[in-house]
Amino acid sequence: MAHTPTSQQAATTTGAGSTQPNTGTTNHNMDTTTVPAADGQPNAIEIAIYHRLSKVIDPELGRSITDLGMIAAIEATPHNTLPLTFDVTVHVELTVAGCPLSKTITNQINGAVASYPDATLIPHIEVSAMSQDKLANLVAQLKAERRQNPFTKPGVHTRIFAIASGKGGVGKSSVTANLAATFAALGYDTAAIDADIYGFSLPRLFGVHTQPTNLNGMLMPVVSWGVKLMSIGMFAGSERAILWRGPRLQRSLEQFLSDVWWGSPDVLLLDMAPGTGDMAISVAQTLPNAELVVVTTPQPSASEIAVRSGLVALQVPMTVRGVVENMSYFEHNGERLEIFGHGGGQRVSEQLTHALGYDVPLLAELPLEPQIREIDDSGRPAVLTPSGELAGTPFAAQFTKLAQSLMDNAK
Ligand SMILES: Nc1ncnc2c1ncn2[C@@H]1O[C@H](COP(=O)(O)OP(=O)(O)OP(=O)(O)O)[C@@H](O)[C@H]1O
Ligand SMILES: [Mg+2]
Repeated sequence: MAHTPTSQQAATTTGAGSTQPNTGTTNHNMDTTTVPAADGQPNAIEIAIYHRLSKVIDPELGRSITDLGMIAAIEATPHNTLPLTFDVTVHVELTVAGCPLSKTITNQINGAVASYPDATLIPHIEVSAMSQDKLANLVAQLKAERRQNPFTKPGVHTRIFAIASGKGGVGKSSVTANLAATFAALGYDTAAIDADIYGFSLPRLFGVHTQPTNLNGMLMPVVSWGVKLMSIGMFAGSERAILWRGPRLQRSLEQFLSDVWWGSPDVLLLDMAPGTGDMAISVAQTLPNAELVVVTTPQPSASEIAVRSGLVALQVPMTVRGVVENMSYFEHNGERLEIFGHGGGQRVSEQLTHALGYDVPLLAELPLEPQIREIDDSGRPAVLTPSGELAGTPFAAQFTKLAQSLMDNAK
C-alpha cells in the first residue's frame, strides 16, 4: 500500500531537507521511509524522484511540495531497457481542488521528473485534492510554525524599527548598518534583518562572508560588529534562498523571523526594499509592533515619494517614528554645500505629521561624506573605529543621538 506522508512527517522532513545552506543536489541521508512508493518499497528511481520533488516549491506557501505532504504516491515502472526508460506516475494532492497555481506546480513536477539524468523517465502526473483531514493537519502545522515568530509573542520587549524609503539609493542600508552598529556599541542587544530580499546589502556593509550555523534546523544569526545579522544574501544560490524568497513577501519575512534563533534583542532593525506599499504592509502584518523610519534625501523627487512611503501608516496600524534626511550637505572648508538641495526631510516630516495627525519629527540630517561610503564598503559601519568602538566623529555622534531619540520616545 502506498505510504502517504502525514503532515507530522512533513514537519520532520522540513528540518532535514531545507535548512542546510548550499547542500548539493543529492541528499544521501534522506530517510527513505518518507518516500511514498506505490508498493511501500521505494526503488532507487522513486527515491531519486522524491528527492528531486523536494526542490519544487509551492508558489503560494513558499515551501517544498514534499514538506507540505503534497506528493501522495510515486510509482516508477520499467518501460524499456534499451535505452533505460521508466514510466513515472506522480500522484499530487493539491491543497485546494482546482487551485489556480496547479499548472505551475504540475509543470515543475514534470520538469523535475523529465530532467532526471540517469535514465529516460516518462512523467504521468495525476492531480487530486487533499482530504479534509490532511488539509486540516497541514494548516494546523503551518499555523503552529507561524506562532514561532518570536517578535509577536506577548511581553516581548524588542523595539522594532523598519527603515524605509520611497526612492531607492537614498541610504537606507547605510543608515540601517550604522544605526545597528551604534545601538550595539551603546550596549543594546541588537539584531538587523536584510528585509530587502532581492537587493540585500547588509553582508557587505558588515563584512560578513560566512553562513549562519544550523543547529538542529534552527539558524543562528551571524554576529558582526556586535550585531546579530540575517540576510538572504548569506544563502546565495541555496535552497533556503529559494524558500525564503517565496512569491509572497509576508511569508518570506515570517520565515526569516521564525527560522532564526534571535533570542530577545532590545532592538531589531529591518532594512527594507525601496517602495511605497507592499513591503511596509507585509512588515505591519508580520510585526505589528514595528515603527517606521523614513529615509529621504533633500531633493523634491525623493521627498515626495518618501511621503507616500510613510502614508502606508494610514492603511495599517503602524507608527511612523520619524524621518532621517541623508546626504543633506557636504562640508567643504567649513562651508555646508547643499548638493541635493534643501528641505526634503523637513517637508516629509511636516506632511506626515499633518496627514497622520501625530508628530513625525525630523530625527537627523546626515552629511554626504565620501568616507562613509568607503568605510561602509570595507565591511565596517563608519560609526565604528577599527577596534569596534564608537568613533569620536560628528557622524558617530549624530547616530548616537538618533539611536537615543528612537529609544527614548515611547511608541
Ligand atoms: N551619507 C552618505 N554619504 C556618502 N555616501 C553615502 C551616504 N549614504 C549612503 N551613501 C552611499 O550611497 C549608496 C546608496 O546607499 P544605500 O545602499 O545605503 O541606499 P539604499 O537606500 O539602501 O539603496 P537601495 O534602495 O538600493 O536599497 C551607497 O554606495 C552608500 O555607500
Ligand atoms: Mg538598501
